[in-house]
Parts: sequence; structure tokens; C-alpha cells
Amino acid sequence: MSVQKSTKVSNNNAKDFKKHTQLRNGKLLEQTDDHIQEVNRKKRDLKLSQILNCTDSDSEVAKNSESKESKEESPWYDNSNSDFLKSVDTKAYRQYDLACERVKDFYKEQHENQTVAYNLQARINFKTKKRDVMTVWDALVKLNVLLDESDPDTELSQIDHAIQTAEAIRRDCKPRWFQLVGLIHDLGKLLYFYDSKGQWDVVGDTFPVGCRFSKRIIFFEFFKNNPDNDNPLYNKKYGIYSPHCGLEDVMLSWGHDEYIYHIAKAQSKLPPEGLAMLRYHSFYPWHQDGGYRYLMNENDAQMLQAVKAFNPYDLYSKTDITYDIEELKPYYLELIDEFFPQKLVKF
Ligand SMILES: [Fe+2]
Ligand SMILES: [Fe+2]
Repeated sequence: MSVQKSTKVSNNNAKDFKKHTQLRNGKLLEQTDDHIQEVNRKKRDLKLSQILNCTDSDSEVAKNSESKESKEESPWYDNSNSDFLKSVDTKAYRQYDLACERVKDFYKEQHENQTVAYNLQARINFKTKKRDVMTVWDALVKLNVLLDESDPDTELSQIDHAIQTAEAIRRDCKPRWFQLVGLIHDLGKLLYFYDSKGQWDVVGDTFPVGCRFSKRIIFFEFFKNNPDNDNPLYNKKYGIYSPHCGLEDVMLSWGHDEYIYHIAKAQSKLPPEGLAMLRYHSFYPWHQDGGYRYLMNENDAQMLQAVKAFNPYDLYSKTDITYDIEELKPYYLELIDEFFPQKLVKF
């Protein structure tokens, strides 16, 4: 595609996005997502402190060499030598009450509306809609503009979070595909400006639909008003699935994770572990709270390891350090091209 033609596509996209922005307040979405992340951090920190209190002897094992060589020799899923994680002061993150009203209201709406019927329709819409075509970098910039436009005093932009996550992963010498996952993991939030119904089908923890809702899902009690909860087809332990069928065949609640996963699966060269990080990064009842083991197959154990390796970079990389995006841009453009060689991606 010529530069002129590509610029025209971008201009049209910009107009469309501008139109959608007037209808959607991106900053509110980000605030909700930030609060949800705070809750997830608190849950994880509580769990970590319990583990640390119980296993003093394990802390000796954690005292490994900090040399770059040993980091490079460690398998990519091993975070024990992570400089990034050692530098994180988890207590520095504001401690939200688990019942933070805003998060509670959000989950009430999400749990009542994420039904099998809604999920099937969302996937049909995704497959049949007219798609915007742009580069991954342009998509990151668009998302940034959309989410931050309504608040000029924003503390941290979406592109900062993308870069901070990717840079933390890069600093720990993780593979290039892992770094790219860090960069694009939240790009699916573009969905908010396309055909989402609200915040509840874009952000928040995800969970399977079509089978009994696990008590490990945050604010489980709100499922009582979800129509699927009374449907005998969907309210049994396995529902429409079979024991250990594998998560690949399980429909997870629709949101930014599913959205970017389907785009990357069809259009990128990311390995299965990278795709799993995209798809499951908000599936906290599974990767953090140990639920749904009865739906996993052997392959999913490997995917779980990958998602667990990614999760801390997402949760703890939001800091005050902002990077010079223009300076880093050439590195990330090359990285994007490596895994999206066709350059233009259908969003
Ligand atoms: Fe996310
Ligand atoms: Fe994120």
C-alpha cells in the first residue's frame, strides 16, 4: 500500500474514532480498569504474604545470582531472577477495600449480563463487522488518544502502560515475543469504541460462560441475577463442556482479552504461550485463584505457567517512570514487524 493510501486509511480511522469518542468516555473506562487492577493486586499481595509467612526456608532458595548471564540462562517463564520484581514495593500501591463501591457496581453489571447468548452474539458481531485496518503501532496511538482525550491531566496514558509493561519484560531479558505481548496485551480495549455495550464487556476479570460460575470469581453473589444461572443447560459443573476438554474449547466472557487474542491468533506469529497470555490475562479465577482445573487439559498447564509469568508485569509495572516513546519507537516497530509481518492488521 502506498504511503498516500495508508495515510488516507489512517485519516478515515481517525474520523471514525473521533465520532465514537464523543459517545464513550475513555477515561472512565480506564478508571474502572485501574480500580479492578488494584483489587487484583491486593488479592495477589495477600496471597503472596501468606505464602512468605509460611515458608521461611523457601526464601533462601529465592536468593539467586542477579547476574545478567543467569537471567539469560533461566527459562523464560522463571521470574526468580527478575530485577523488575525485586524492585517492586507492592505496598506502595494504594490498598483498595475489596468491596470498593465502584468495582462492586461494575461487577454487578458484568455478572448479570455475561450470558452464553450475549457471548455468541458478540462473536458473531466480531466476525461479521467491517474492520478498521491499521498497523499495531497506529492502533496503540489511537487507543491512547481515545482513552486520554477526555482528561488532559491523566497520570499515566495507555501507551505508557503498554511501554512500561514491555520494557519491564525486556529488562528481564525475556524473549522478544514475550515483550510484544507486554506491548499489545491491552490493545483490545479498542473494542470499547467499536461495538461494546458498556464497560462490562471490555474490562474486568473474565470467566467461562456455559457452565456453573465458580465461587472463586470475584463478587460471585452477583451471578444470581444472570439468566444462565437458572438454566439447567448452563448451571451444572461442566455445563456445555466435558471434563478436561481444554480451555481452548471453553467460551470465556467477552472482553478486551478475547478480542486481542482472536486478532493475534489469526494475524500474528506469536507462539501459543504468547496467545495464552493475551487471552487469559484477566482470567483471575483461574490463574490466580486456582479455579476451573476440571476444564483444563495437559496443554493448559503450560499455558497457565505462561500466564503466571506474565501477570506480575501487568499488575506491577505501572510506575511514575515514563519512557521517551519516540526514542523507543524504532525498537518496537521492528518488534511488531517481526510478529505481524504483513504490517496492516484488521481490528
Ligand atoms: Fe488487560
Ligand atoms: Fe494491562
